[in-house]
Amino acid sequence: MAHSAAACFLPLLFTALFLLSSCRFGSGIPTRYDGFYYSGGGGDWKDVIVVDAFLDPLCPDSRDAWPPLKQVVRLYSPRLAVIVHPFPLPYHNNAFLACRALHIANKLNASSTFPLLELFFKYQERYYNGPTKSMSRSAIIDDMAKLANGAVGNFSEFLLGFEDWKTDMAARTSFKYGCTRGVAGAPFFFVNGFLLPDAGSALDLETWISIIGPLVKNQREQWLCRYGPSI
Ligand SMILES: *[C@@H]1O[C@H](CO)[C@@H](O)[C@H](O)[C@H]1NC(C)=O
Ligand SMILES: *[C@@H]1O[C@H](CO)[C@@H](O)[C@H](O)[C@H]1NC(C)=O
Repeated sequence: MAHSAAACFLPLLFTALFLLSSCRFGSGIPTRYDGFYYSGGGGDWKDVIVVDAFLDPLCPDSRDAWPPLKQVVRLYSPRLAVIVHPFPLPYHNNAFLACRALHIANKLNASSTFPLLELFFKYQERYYNGPTKSMSRSAIIDDMAKLANGAVGNFSEFLLGFEDWKTDMAARTSFKYGCTRGVAGAPFFFVNGFLLPDAGSALDLETWISIIGPLVKNQREQWLCRYGPSI
């Protein structure tokens, strides 16, 4: 009978899938570098300044850090590459869901990732611990899907994303990556791999310029030494 054959094969199938997945994640190393690429780069990666930004979509300091970061990108583009890593702080009860929502958006429509992040920043009070304390998890997910609808484009597909273990895994990977870098708050910024001081608070545009400006200038001088002024 097809039925009993399936009953025999299913455990085997699951074992195979389990082995497959445990092989893939056995080393704990994801197949791609974590995070959402915001801008910059192109050309030789050694000639760009790389900013890794660890942001919690439900954290007020991360929200306040975002506009100056965008401004500094505009100022130094394309010399500055910005990669955003969603990092859910455990004391923001809905932050992991919000980070997962970003991974879902990124999967469905990559160009909706940052519009959704900005929607979270704009309406983050809705998802604070107080206003959601008597809401069920599925009601919160539903609300996030409604919020995302404007940016991502397909409500039902977005909801299904919360059933997809891969989006859960992606959000975990982001979190774990932050842990391996010693991230203990948000926002945390790394420039060319080095942690900036004042981690956990928003940086204003002047501070960014004081950090990035000299690096760009030094890079330019090194470039001139190597290739001469004709470029
Ligand atoms: C993808 O997201 C962008 C940005 O929010 C939006 O303009 C576009 O319509 C979306 N594409 C689809 C197919 O929904
Ligand atoms: C939304 O996604 C579902 C599932 O993939 C698909 O069947 C449906 O046609 C999509 N709707 C729109 C408006 O794109």
